[in-house]
Amino acid sequence: MRRDLTISPSSGSPTGREHYGVDAPMVPLSFAAATVVFLALAPFVGLAWPWLTLAAASALQLALYLHASLRGKFRIWERLLDDADLTGDERVLDLGCGRGAVTVAAARRVPRGAVDGVDLWRSVDQSGNDEEAARANAVAVGVSDRVQLHTGDVGDLSFADNTFDVVVSSLVIHNIHDQAHRASVISEGLRVLKPGGRFVIADIDHAREYAAALRSGGATEVQVTRLGLRGWFGNPWFRMTSVRARSATS
Ligand SMILES: C[S@@+](CC[C@H](N)C(=O)[O-])C[C@H]1O[C@@H](n2cnc3c(N)ncnc32)[C@H](O)[C@@H]1O
Repeated sequence: MRRDLTISPSSGSPTGREHYGVDAPMVPLSFAAATVVFLALAPFVGLAWPWLTLAAASALQLALYLHASLRGKFRIWERLLDDADLTGDERVLDLGCGRGAVTVAAARRVPRGAVDGVDLWRSVDQSGNDEEAARANAVAVGVSDRVQLHTGDVGDLSFADNTFDVVVSSLVIHNIHDQAHRASVISEGLRVLKPGGRFVIADIDHAREYAAALRSGGATEVQVTRLGLRGWFGNPWFRMTSVRARSATS
């Protein structure tokens, strides 16, 4: 399932012009398939109510997932970017930018700055994921003059040390299965941040691991925050948590 969304300039809320796709599209498809299978089984297999209960549970997970992917994460990032107290001049790096949901939101907030997005454009992680889709979204919102997109692994960045004021990452690092590789995303993010720069991650899973890696990389003000029902990708086991920190000042 795919919906078209816009970040409106005033509210930052999705409303209709850009196309951001659905995160990990096989997951909502599997919830939809389970709903249909349980409904189909109900009339034929013994008691109906257990199958109807399972169908309702799958449908609820589907609804929560789609809400988180199509609305919730946008609201969450609106809030996280508000809290980052941007002045408008910053240079921002979006690790795993995908089709640009956070890249575009950040670019709107830094009219005199710039946003770089790095991704491998994996379609298993986001429907219709490619560089052109991200660029089209930046054009649609009128921020393409300050958005640069790069193909690369977020654990091996090509930027020089101390380049960025803010590093953000949305729903990316949990896709990396190897712990050492995940740790390299944090250490690379810290390396390219200027002293005292902000690192803002929102992801499912591994929040404590990210917090520990940030601390061991010298980051300060490390804060882990659960992001509520709007960040539930189907159920409480796949909910968004933010991990925020500042890079060391010396
Ligand atoms: C669920 S999508 C989220 C995209 C975007 N941040 C958002 O919130 O809409 C995860 C993204 O991480 C990217 N990704 C996963 N592993 C990566 C890696 N090792 N290096 C770069 N990008 C990666 C995928 O290609 C995908 O675009």
